Amino acid sequence: MVSSDIFSDGYAPQYASLYINHPHWEPKLRHNAALLRALLHPLGNWLDTCCGQGWHLAQFPRQRRMGIDISAAQLERARQQNPGVPFIQADVVDYEFPDGQRFDLVSNFWSSYSYLNDEDAIRKLVQKLVRWTAPGGALYLELTEPEGLEGFNDNEFSAETGAKVALRSADEVLWQYQDVGGVHLMMSPPLEFFTDIIAPHFTRLDHSTMVRSVRQFVAWGKRPD
Ligand SMILES: C[S@@+](CC[C@H](N)C(=O)[O-])C[C@H]1O[C@@H](n2cnc3c(N)ncnc32)[C@H](O)[C@@H]1O
Repeated sequence: MVSSDIFSDGYAPQYASLYINHPHWEPKLRHNAALLRALLHPLGNWLDTCCGQGWHLAQFPRQRRMGIDISAAQLERARQQNPGVPFIQADVVDYEFPDGQRFDLVSNFWSSYSYLNDEDAIRKLVQKLVRWTAPGGALYLELTEPEGLEGFNDNEFSAETGAKVALRSADEVLWQYQDVGGVHLMMSPPLEFFTDIIAPHFTRLDHSTMVRSVRQFVAWGKRPD
């Protein structure tokens, strides 16, 4: 299934209980919020791409911020959680800001790029996110690392909810995630894929991790074009 079919009115409430409010993910969400706090302190306007229900944006109510997502159901909840914040409903692959706007912080959480399920499309999206980052700004991607993905099926969350990962390629880059929303077809290139695209444009790269197979990747100090 493609993401626009999965993130429907029926799935959005379940998404919130499974991936925002479920205690299994709390360390990951808290870690993201702490990293965002460190980034946003010196930085100004923030664009969260594939923002879903806007949990990350809602942690910083005084920040100048904006979200973009393809799903009307996800954005309906994002608007409720973030009054007054502009949200764009669009496919991030196609979308361009009419005025060429750039942002001091651009983010993409929870491996949302993986839904593109195509290496060339992911490369073009990452290049676009780099381009949308203003000089001096930061890019924050929450990556899925292909190694160890299969271990997901042994965790307590999988046992409790029935969510399962299945690999679709020997190198673990192609995979699928099955939960109450259906089968999510995903592609997660390795860390070097992102480093190769991003490193030339930034002065510093950081990595950290709180949950197996999920890596917080932050590029600081966008170089002038
Ligand atoms: C796993 S959810 C993550 C949501 C949010 N970033 C979070 O961390 O809770 C993936 C989100 O990506 C969005 N999405 C997937 N493909 C997209 C695309 N091509 N353009 C815009 N949004 C997309 C989905 O609608 C969904 O809200």
